[in-house]
Amino acid sequence: MPSVNSITGAYIEYKTEKLNDNVNYLRTVLPYNSQLLYSLKANNNPEIIKFFCDTVDGFDIASKEELALISSYVGKKRTLCLTGNEKISIPMSALLDAASKHNLIYSIESPNDFLFFCKIIEHDIDVQGLFRLSYFPSVRYGIFNGLPDSPFGMTAETINTLLSRAHPGAKQRVVGFHLYIGSQISDMNQLSETLRCAIEEIKRVDPEFVAQINMLNVGGGFPAPYGQKMNQQVITSAFKLSEELEKVINESNLPPVSLIFESGRALTGNAGRLSCSVLDYNFNSASPYIVINCGIAQIAGLYMLRRIKEPDLEFYYDAPKGIHTATVRCRVYGPSCTALDMLGYATLSPDTISIGTLLHCDNLGAYCSNASLNGFHGKTKIREIINLE
Ligand SMILES: Cc1ncc(COP(=O)(O)O)c(C=O)c1O
Repeated sequence: MPSVNSITGAYIEYKTEKLNDNVNYLRTVLPYNSQLLYSLKANNNPEIIKFFCDTVDGFDIASKEELALISSYVGKKRTLCLTGNEKISIPMSALLDAASKHNLIYSIESPNDFLFFCKIIEHDIDVQGLFRLSYFPSVRYGIFNGLPDSPFGMTAETINTLLSRAHPGAKQRVVGFHLYIGSQISDMNQLSETLRCAIEEIKRVDPEFVAQINMLNVGGGFPAPYGQKMNQQVITSAFKLSEELEKVINESNLPPVSLIFESGRALTGNAGRLSCSVLDYNFNSASPYIVINCGIAQIAGLYMLRRIKEPDLEFYYDAPKGIHTATVRCRVYGPSCTALDMLGYATLSPDTISIGTLLHCDNLGAYCSNASLNGFHGKTKIREIINLE
């Protein structure tokens, strides 16, 4: 049995080959010529940012901390889309610097955010604005941010009020809409249906303004499984998605628009695999369990919060070959061993498990290491390893 110090610390290993595959997949199913951005909130590991710098067209960022990462690790001219409400704390000097190096796009989320956008323009910063639209999608979501009173987006009615009061100079700098489609659609094919709903809302916006637009940021929210074993994953087919999206745009009577997609989880989710060690177990209890050396705080914070249901991460291990003993389905807990730190399940042969046995969990590359709920259970950010292939 290994001593405590010889137990392997938990880590998430990322395969850059998968990051590449994900970029290529999205590029094949999204309309040709659309820009693909990477949303830093899913995973802001510097090596991942540097890797994407060469393969995507830009980044979606939401805070001054994320902008600082871009200035440190992105040396090429890229599109930067600023979204969310925390971006108003970005100093003007940082925005000026970013605009001198990149194409800066600002998502205007609320009337208050529009005031900040106007201030940026007054500082002569080269930026294009997009009104973030709040609309009801027709499909079922985990959660949907963008409801009428949400600070993430405005209904056509609110946008019309803003437009009626806006200075013509500021109005001119708004070139389209941001339509973040939601937290996660369950199938890629729901994208065109959602786009149709957004366009219905755009039709209620002042036609004179709509006639001048040239850009739609469709957002992210594309499907990605969490913590499910790779070979059980259902590959979502996106049959002729780009043709369908183009059809929806063509039928909309909008002026010609360029499209932006800013994906997070669909780009990094399946690229990260967790490896962790068994700290304790009890296979004889009425509900068998094992305890591992990482917890909700490090690998599943956002997953748990977003789904508001018991996590069902699927852990597995490399069972010794040739041993065919009965298996037990057990619960997997993080080191605090509380219901709050319950992570998921594993099917194991008790005879083959000891303290230090290595377990794995797939599809933990997005919103896991990044979502560490600082200080919760006193855990530090999980170790990350980038496996360049
Ligand atoms: C504005 C915006 N863009 C992009 C994303 C990335 O979404 P996803 O990881 O679902 O692709 C998010 C996630 O919350 C977001 O809020």
